[in-house]
Amino acid sequence: MAKPDFRVNDLRVNIDGKEILKGLNLHIQGGEIHAIMGPNGTGKSTLASALMGHPHYEVTGGSATLDGEDLLEMSVDERARAGLFLAMQYPAEVPGVSNANFIRQALNARLGEGNELPVLKFHRMLQEKMKALSIDPEFAERYLNEGFSGGEKKRNEILQMSMLEPRIAILDEIDSGLDIDALKIVANGVNSLRSENIGFLIITHYQRLLNYIKPDYVHVMMQGRIVRSGDATLAEELEAKGYDWLKAELGIEDETVGVEA
Ligand SMILES: Nc1ncnc2c1ncn2[C@@H]1O[C@H](COP(=O)(O)OP(=O)(O)OP(=O)(O)O)[C@@H](O)[C@H]1O
Ligand SMILES: [Mg+2]
Repeated sequence: MAKPDFRVNDLRVNIDGKEILKGLNLHIQGGEIHAIMGPNGTGKSTLASALMGHPHYEVTGGSATLDGEDLLEMSVDERARAGLFLAMQYPAEVPGVSNANFIRQALNARLGEGNELPVLKFHRMLQEKMKALSIDPEFAERYLNEGFSGGEKKRNEILQMSMLEPRIAILDEIDSGLDIDALKIVANGVNSLRSENIGFLIITHYQRLLNYIKPDYVHVMMQGRIVRSGDATLAEELEAKGYDWLKAELGIEDETVGVEA
């Protein structure tokens, strides 16, 4: 199979009638890791949710394709089957559904009818991946994310990703709330999946993660657009100089948030 080819062109997204994404462009191919950084509230998670097909996010313009197929025409399930995966910034708790069952259903949906994994094979694979991510075996039977600590939820998102083997993986702040050991485990989980068959979009606030997962491209997002792209040194420059430096350089004014007189 050809390597993944993921394109976002001039994407515009509204939430409750307000434009959040204002013409966003991205091109990610298999084998590449792209990082997006940017201040709070600039629309990074909005991009992730809109691409995944969250109904709250209204796409008002532009396109998103995976391997030439129009993602925006697809249901959430179809997007997952096409190989799009999102590790959420705030993974939802789903009481009553065990982690193993959730992952098994997602995996079978991804593999398609007739290609489902036999139960025993599935559980063997799950246990192997859990071990690699230092996740306690008992987490297989716990309800999805219920009572998981912040870091446990993040590791569990990586578990789902490594089971599903997506073609394009979007990881939204996968490093937030991780202790130092967990950060390395999560980074190893990502690095072990790295190949021509997968492209990554990693949303993060911290250069620290990018020491462990080396990005090929770094993009800075501000006010609903990518305002600068570069290589890994851009993240270092940002860390050293802060966003105000880039805003001044680009002549971007702060949006007034807030209180009317
Ligand atoms: N469901 C929603 N309802 C109303 N406003 C929303 C909703 N989701 C996002 N927004 C608004 O859209 C803007 C972009 O939010 P988003 O979560 O995409 O930012 P972000 O770049 O991911 O920020 P952070 O770095 O803090 O995670 C914010 O102003 C936010 O308040
Ligand atoms: Mg966010």
